Amino acid sequence: MAKGKVDALLGIVFGDEGKGKVVDVFTPRYDIVARFAGGPNAGHTILFEGKKFVLRSIPSGIFDENKLNIIGGGCVIAPDLFMAEACELEAAGYDLHQRLHISQRAHLILPTHRVLDRAYEAAKGKAKVGTTGKGIGPTYSEKASRTGLRVGDILDNFRAKYEALKARHLQILADLHYTDFDITDEEKKWFEGIEYMQHFPLTDTETELNRALAEGRNVLAEGAQGTMLDIDHGTYPFVSSSNTICGGVCTGLGVPPTSIGEVFGIFKAYSTRVGSGPFPVELFDETGDKIREIGHEYGAVTGRNRRCGWLDLVALRYAIMINGVSQLIMMKGDVLDDFETIRVCVAYERNGVRTTDMPFNTEGWAPVYRDFPGWQTDLTHMTSPSQFPSAFRDYIAFIERETGTPVTLVSVGPDRAQTISLA
Ligand code: IMP
Repeated sequence: MAKGKVDALLGIVFGDEGKGKVVDVFTPRYDIVARFAGGPNAGHTILFEGKKFVLRSIPSGIFDENKLNIIGGGCVIAPDLFMAEACELEAAGYDLHQRLHISQRAHLILPTHRVLDRAYEAAKGKAKVGTTGKGIGPTYSEKASRTGLRVGDILDNFRAKYEALKARHLQILADLHYTDFDITDEEKKWFEGIEYMQHFPLTDTETELNRALAEGRNVLAEGAQGTMLDIDHGTYPFVSSSNTICGGVCTGLGVPPTSIGEVFGIFKAYSTRVGSGPFPVELFDETGDKIREIGHEYGAVTGRNRRCGWLDLVALRYAIMINGVSQLIMMKGDVLDDFETIRVCVAYERNGVRTTDMPFNTEGWAPVYRDFPGWQTDLTHMTSPSQFPSAFRDYIAFIERETGTPVTLVSVGPDRAQTISLA
């Protein structure tokens, strides 16, 4: 961590890698924690002082009164959900108002964006993306169409702008014959959220951030979702609608590429995915169920079962390349404690053709596995790498060799103390 730099902390597969816990461990080292993309589709579970919080839009540095937290311009924000999330933190005793700044450039998720999300998914039938239903896609589409509403718009003749956009959405919904919805209560809460948001500094966060960097302060850019859900580099069209990769830090926060320092890539010792889309390593048998059960792999936002499989090195290498990952962080090593054999996907194969590069579409590609003996030891009590069983050390060493990237932190349980540095 260098002064005046932005370090990025990114989930580098399909999200849900456990960023919340790592950010919590990392934040003491940083002056500012900033979210650069995504919105309430994220769900960062954080255990703080024995209490569990699920942060959706608010950065994970919020628990420390000495940190500035920023919701950057690349994010989308739902005022009603933001209010609910912030009020929960306030009720737990955290005073957020000066600790959290919101970019005026962040786009607003309207209640009708959420209805559109449902309507588009319904229209896709079997080809649905399996979105979180939070209106993410319609809001980012609106941004690209240059018809969206931004946080800064709240401050000027807002109601008229809102009504004009809502009318357009209602027309689209009528054209889709999607009329069976009622947003009256939701809309009321949404406008309460708009009022509530105005008690926070709504600022030009890019100027703030660049000034802070020039003064030598350091910033942690907190990723959401994962590389394989990136709108450009993920498994399109089964992706989210923002740039979740390291490039998104620069566009989402308005900081130059030269300001990026370390890029921490978080992955799990195995793979999971929520929602639809190709997932070559998916296990449909009791091994997949066992991973889900032990790893508590159920969606933090939607509660859906996460699809589970073995670690996929094709995806990991690809994500390291796209993001320029300088250090890897492996989560949930302990979930594999009980397995006799542990498999790692080292390549994909289709019609006799083998590749270690990420194909345009992973549909139809089968994983090629290499097997490792399981360590069959409880890792959760370990406090130093010297205690690791040799089979676990071999597993990590293999990942490092295959990816050319050091694993510098390993998590072996949900508690902050169960995070072991290998650096
Ligand atoms: P959306 O972001 O709600 O549009 O959903 C698009 C796809 O991204 C769906 O497959 C979601 O399940 C997935 N997704 C969105 N946010 C997350 C996340 O934070 N973790 C994991 N998957 C996510």
